Amino acid sequence: MRQPLVAGNWKMHGSRAENASLVSGLLDLLQPGKRAEILLCPPFPYLMETGRLLKDSGVALGAQSVCAESQGAFTGEVSAAMLKDVGCRYVLVGHSERRQLFGERDALVARKFVAAQGQALVPVLCVGETLEEREGDQTTSVVSRQLEAVLAVTGVQALAKAVIAYEPVWAIGTGRTASPEQAQEVHAMIRAKVAERDATIGGSVRILYGGSVKASNAQELFAMPDIDGGLVGGASLKADEFARICAGAG
Ligand code: PGA
Repeated sequence: MRQPLVAGNWKMHGSRAENASLVSGLLDLLQPGKRAEILLCPPFPYLMETGRLLKDSGVALGAQSVCAESQGAFTGEVSAAMLKDVGCRYVLVGHSERRQLFGERDALVARKFVAAQGQALVPVLCVGETLEEREGDQTTSVVSRQLEAVLAVTGVQALAKAVIAYEPVWAIGTGRTASPEQAQEVHAMIRAKVAERDATIGGSVRILYGGSVKASNAQELFAMPDIDGGLVGGASLKADEFARICAGAG
């Protein structure tokens, strides 16, 4: 049985004060004893303080990106060891905004994935097609390519300690959510690709859906057989909305 995971990706939002009140508001609202695992990914400067606020709460801390290199003259970058050092358990790799706005290609994403696991961080590998790709019937080929780029470097075993997030680019921040059926179809395809290589890992790897997840659609998305939770952007910036999404994951 896969434990659901709901991750909040705050992107580049907030201030120290806003982030602190978001975390405490959320901790007040989350229902203890719920089955789903919760993960928060604040901006880098707020990681330590968020980690301090989350201490003993059972809510996990993660970062939004990581450098592929381990240390050295890489101005502006943050290493996996540093993320580990400040209490992160997870890190997003290959988010579509990194791919599209910062030119991160499949090969770099694979190296980031490896760097994260090298420090025992759990990478959340984000994959997903653009609207043009979907309309050109390329969803399967694009998502497979993004997944294979990592598997070719790491082997399928690496997915035993990773999470996959399917985030159709056309659904991110647009208010346009994939229907549960549309998302399920891609999730099932991803799981089958992994299972082709290793049936056990295919059955156990958690695959999150991301892209305009809200309290009003979370439950029906999470009810699909191959959707194991969500990666939530905009709606994770509101404590009550995010808490309701988490509740929807069981
Ligand atoms: P959204 O973002 O929920 O605001 O669409 C999701 C994401 O980018 O992870």
